[in-house]
Amino acid sequence: MAIREIIIIPDKQLRLVSKPVETVNAEIRKLADDMLETMYDAPGIGLAAIQIAQPLRLITMDIAKRDKDGEEEIKPRPRVFINPEIVSASEELSVYEEGCLSIPEYYEEVERPARVRVRFLDLDGKVHEEDAEGLYATCIQHEIDHLNGVLFVDYLSKLKRDRVMKKFTKAAKLAAK
Ligand code: NI
Repeated sequence: MAIREIIIIPDKQLRLVSKPVETVNAEIRKLADDMLETMYDAPGIGLAAIQIAQPLRLITMDIAKRDKDGEEEIKPRPRVFINPEIVSASEELSVYEEGCLSIPEYYEEVERPARVRVRFLDLDGKVHEEDAEGLYATCIQHEIDHLNGVLFVDYLSKLKRDRVMKKFTKAAKLAAK
């Protein structure tokens, strides 16, 4: 396993539409391992392959909750979703404060369907369908958006989005000097 570099806005690769994984092979399993290690190291609860500059429809996630005081740690529950798709979504919406490893230290509330049904392949290439709600529903929608070149800031007002894009563009220019 290896920790990979996470790309951040305004990197244009984040706007790419990722390609489906054609065969779930050793290479894909290695990529998923690296993504999980990178995600835990960040730390984050979800990562899409494009965030480490791999335009493939592959997501890792761990939403197992940890005790707030850090006294009782709940075991990690790493998950991998290959070629995930939303097959249905509730009309009911819910609001969560979202963040993104590609937009560090920026958090805003986003409204999305409260429940979704997701179809995906596992690391053995087997098809699964699951109903997601709560944080799981929000997280899987956020990550699938990445596979389509969509970022959570796209759901904010133009004013807020422009402000955050400008801030990161300026920082990138300064870093390049
Ligand atoms: Ni993200």
